[in-house]
Amino acid sequence: MNQKQRATITAVDHYVPEKILTNFDLEKMVETTNDWILERTGIRERHILEKGATSDLAIPAVQGVLKQRGISAEEIEVIIVATVTPDMFFPSTAAIIQDAIGAKNAWGFDMEAACSGFLFALMTGARFIESGAYKKVLVVGADKMSSIVDYTDRNTCILFGDAGAAVLLEPTENLNEGIFDSILRLDGSGKEFLYMKGGGSLNPPSHQTVDSGLHYLFQDGKAVFKVAVKGMADVSAEILEKNNLAGKDVDWLVPHQANLRIIDACASRMGLDASKVMINIDRYGNTTDATIPMCLSEWHKSGQLKKGQTIVLSSFGAGYSWGAILLKWGI
Ligand code: COA
Repeated sequence: MNQKQRATITAVDHYVPEKILTNFDLEKMVETTNDWILERTGIRERHILEKGATSDLAIPAVQGVLKQRGISAEEIEVIIVATVTPDMFFPSTAAIIQDAIGAKNAWGFDMEAACSGFLFALMTGARFIESGAYKKVLVVGADKMSSIVDYTDRNTCILFGDAGAAVLLEPTENLNEGIFDSILRLDGSGKEFLYMKGGGSLNPPSHQTVDSGLHYLFQDGKAVFKVAVKGMADVSAEILEKNNLAGKDVDWLVPHQANLRIIDACASRMGLDASKVMINIDRYGNTTDATIPMCLSEWHKSGQLKKGQTIVLSSFGAGYSWGAILLKWGI
């Protein structure tokens, strides 16, 4: 792309609630074992927000971003929130965050693309910056998955956790850093394998929808697993080829954290050593829109993520929706 400026991430932070739900806790709730969960998913524990909503997970992360960058909320121009668990259908969670932090000069909106929501939101924000229209865009990925998980269903309740994370996007004229490229995909023929059927206009809430559990997340794990492995690996390999890169040129793969076996398959397809893959699924489970920015935040804070490093973000989720983004770290 012929560009004068790129969008680059200039700050990143995350927040997880205090309460931890371990595999051993789940053993007491459903018929499962720590060994099964660890072996089939790589998850040991996840965090759960006991009181409050998704915005309560996002706000501390957003405030951390502002502090890190040393700017006031009034300087933020756009807030994009990727979530499948908005505080309410409307107003948007972006509006709730905007008010809470006092971003009085910002507009914003929520974006729903399931586990690929953060990538879709990040590219949307990047385009706003590249166009020259805006200079400070907040991109948030946050989900209170515990609000839509059925804790009597062992197929799904072991997988998910709650978390919020945020990045600030700004323009850079240094064309050796920032967001370089993306491949984003959507295939709605996957809609019946991973969905929440109730609560929307198709099945408005009623005693019957609640009694049938339609307000809970449903997943055909086996069906999703097969397409997720292929989809995430294909798109991650494709973005390398498209940019004349090989696995050796990549410093970090930042995969959506849904299942350790999917992550391993994706890394192996890209020819990447395990030491170059960000993995924290063991401690948080699948936090949907927060997984990728939360990895970036943790690796940035620990000093492992360094300026100039080449990174591939990669995701797969409901829809189906999937994609990969290539960037060079700029902070
Ligand atoms: N504890 C113990 N046994 C369990 C279990 C649990 N928590 N959950 C399922 N099982 C059982 C099943 O009932 C099944 O038993 P059966 O063979 O007697 O029917 C057996 O374990 C195997 O189930 P299966 O669904 O084949 O397991 P799996 O190896 O596919 O793992 C998932 C299940 C959900 C972990 C896996 O399919 C997965 O990660 N899917 C994709 C998730 C994803 O990427 N989502 C997209 C992004 S959100």
